[in-house]
Order: sequence, then structure tokens, then C-alpha cells
Amino acid sequence: MLERIRAEVERIRREWEEAKGTVRSPEELERLRVRFLGRKGEVTVLFQFLKEVPGEQRAEAGRLINALKEGIQGELSRIRDELEATLREERLRREAFDLTLPGRWRPLGKLHPLTQVRLEIERIFMEMGFDVATGPEVETDYYNFEALNIPEDHPARDEWDSFYIDDTHLLRTHTSPVQIRVMKSRKPPVRIICPGRCYRRDTPDATHFPVFHQVELLWVERGLTMAHLKWIIEEFVRQFFGPGYEMRFSADYFPFTEPSAQVHIRRKGGPWLEIMGAGMVDPAVFEEVGYDPEEVTGFAFGLGIERMAMLKYGIDDIRLFFQNDLRFLEQF
Ligand code: FA5
Repeated sequence: MLERIRAEVERIRREWEEAKGTVRSPEELERLRVRFLGRKGEVTVLFQFLKEVPGEQRAEAGRLINALKEGIQGELSRIRDELEATLREERLRREAFDLTLPGRWRPLGKLHPLTQVRLEIERIFMEMGFDVATGPEVETDYYNFEALNIPEDHPARDEWDSFYIDDTHLLRTHTSPVQIRVMKSRKPPVRIICPGRCYRRDTPDATHFPVFHQVELLWVERGLTMAHLKWIIEEFVRQFFGPGYEMRFSADYFPFTEPSAQVHIRRKGGPWLEIMGAGMVDPAVFEEVGYDPEEVTGFAFGLGIERMAMLKYGIDDIRLFFQNDLRFLEQF
């Protein structure tokens, strides 16, 4: 009997040796465990023969079967550990980030240079205590001309050659109508700037475009004089351009200001560029909006944003702003 058990132990060990080499996954390993050590497994069944072994041989037979069982158990757990380690490594390799890979380049948008310049102008005047006001781009004849002391048939209308939409509506030719809208809705003192788009039937050239942007400024209060206007413009130009620029005031004419001036600026040594019209608000305009010209005075100007940007960045053709050429835009 002992010999038979010895032979069985040998056979099972050989089968085990053969089978264990084929294991590739925890599931296969579990099937092997059941096959050899499960409730009806080969080794477990062998134990049932023990009681048929004669007394003096039983201890030896028990030792043989136990050694087989423990051997298989030990190897099972070693193989399980190895399998788990391999699987973990594979998972780590699959999920790892390669920190040395170069990143993907994503284009980052920027503000248009004209927007950057507008925001800078707004910042400077807001720090001086001005509010930002806006008005419609489609205006009535009344706000764009009449309330600004430019009656029909006034020769000044020819200077602002306009795009009419119907008999009484046009694309505004300047931001000055916003002055009227604000004064009609507020009591003095008024201190505002009005940035916005303007339209004129101007033939495009290096310094003109049919669509362009202005910033209007209006300050109405008791006791304001031309000296305040000059100071504001000088201070603004100093902050916006920094050193290396020159400014020139000269007389001009606008129906809504008296006296009126125009301002030219240049980089030292460069050509002069007209950047704004300005002046003391005409009493006729105050009367139109219901302000008493004996009580308050005021001044206003309208400057061209494109021209400011041209001077600041040394651009000699206004049309570049409107071509949307990335090689140009990316420089700002
Ligand atoms: C006016 O438009 C007046 N409303 C300015 C004003 C406001 C005067 C308040 C007094 C009081 P003017 O037409 O000169 O003025 O235009 C003012 C500025 O707008 C110009 O100096 C220029 O910088 C800019 N500008 C005018 N037309 C064009 C254009 N076609 N393309 C680009 N910029 C222009």
C-alpha cells in the first residue's frame, strides 16, 4: 500500500511540474489549485487512502502526501506573487506618462492691436476720473449733425461724407453724438470718454480708412478753460507714448467747439500725424442739451485710435490693421 501511495505521489508531482509551467494568469493558477488541492483535488483524494494503509506505514505515507501538498502550496503562492508582480509592472508601463515628450503647441489668441490701444487709452482716462460711455453706430441725423450745431446745408457736412441708411439715419461719422446723448441724460458736471467705431466715405490711403475708431472725451464743469484742455492732452500723450515724441497744437474749425484746435504728434524727427480735433464746447451745443452756458464751460476732443497705434508702433500704413494678416498681428 505504501508503495502505491509513493507511486501516486510521484505521478501527481510530475503532473504538477508539467502543469505549473503553463500558467499565464491568476485564473489559470486558480484552476490548477482546484485541480490539485481543491476539495476533490488529486492531493486531497490521496489523503482518503491513508486509512487503508497498515498502521506501521501510515505515518510515512502521511508524511509523503503532506510533503507533496506543502510543496505544491509553497509553489502556488510563489507563482501567484510572481504573476501579480508581472501584471503590476505591465500596468505601470501602460499607464506611465512620458515626461520627456514635447508638449503639443496650441495657438494662443491675442487682442487686436487696436483693442490693446483702446484699452490703454481707457485705462489712462479712467485713472484721471473719467467714465466710459457708448452710443449707437447707426445714428440719427439729429445727433450726428444737428445737435452739434451743424444744420442741414452747413458746409461742414461735406467734410464728413457719410453713409446714409435712409433719409434720417446714417452710420455715425464721429463719436461726438455720444456727447449729446450723455449731456441730455445727465446734469453737469460730466466727465466721460466714448470709444467707438466711425464710418466715412473716405478713400483708403496710408492714413485714412472708411471704418476707423475714435475716442471722444468730454469734460463739463464750472470754470474749465483751454488751459485745462491743453494740460489733459499733454498729460495723456506723455503717459501713452512716453519720451521721444513731440506734440503740436494748431487752430482748426469745428461747428461744435469755439475755439477749436487740432493736435499733431510725431516721433522725434519723423513726419507729423494729425491725431485729434479738440476745442471748448460751443454755447449753442450747451443750449441744445439744456445746459446753461453762463453756468458751465467744457471742452471735448475726438482722437483717432488707428493714428495713435500707428505712432506708437511705428506703422506707416493704416490698412495693415484691417487685413487680418497673422504675420502682422502676431507682433503685438
Ligand atoms: C472729428 O471727428 C471731431 N468730431 C473731433 C472733435 C471732437 C473735435 C470733439 C472737437 C471736439 P476729425 O474729422 O478731425 O474730427 O477726426 C478726428 C480724428 O479722427 C482725426 O484726427 C483722425 O485721427 C481720425 N480720423 C478721421 N478720419 C479718419 C479716417 N478716415 N481714418 C482714420 N482715422 C480718421
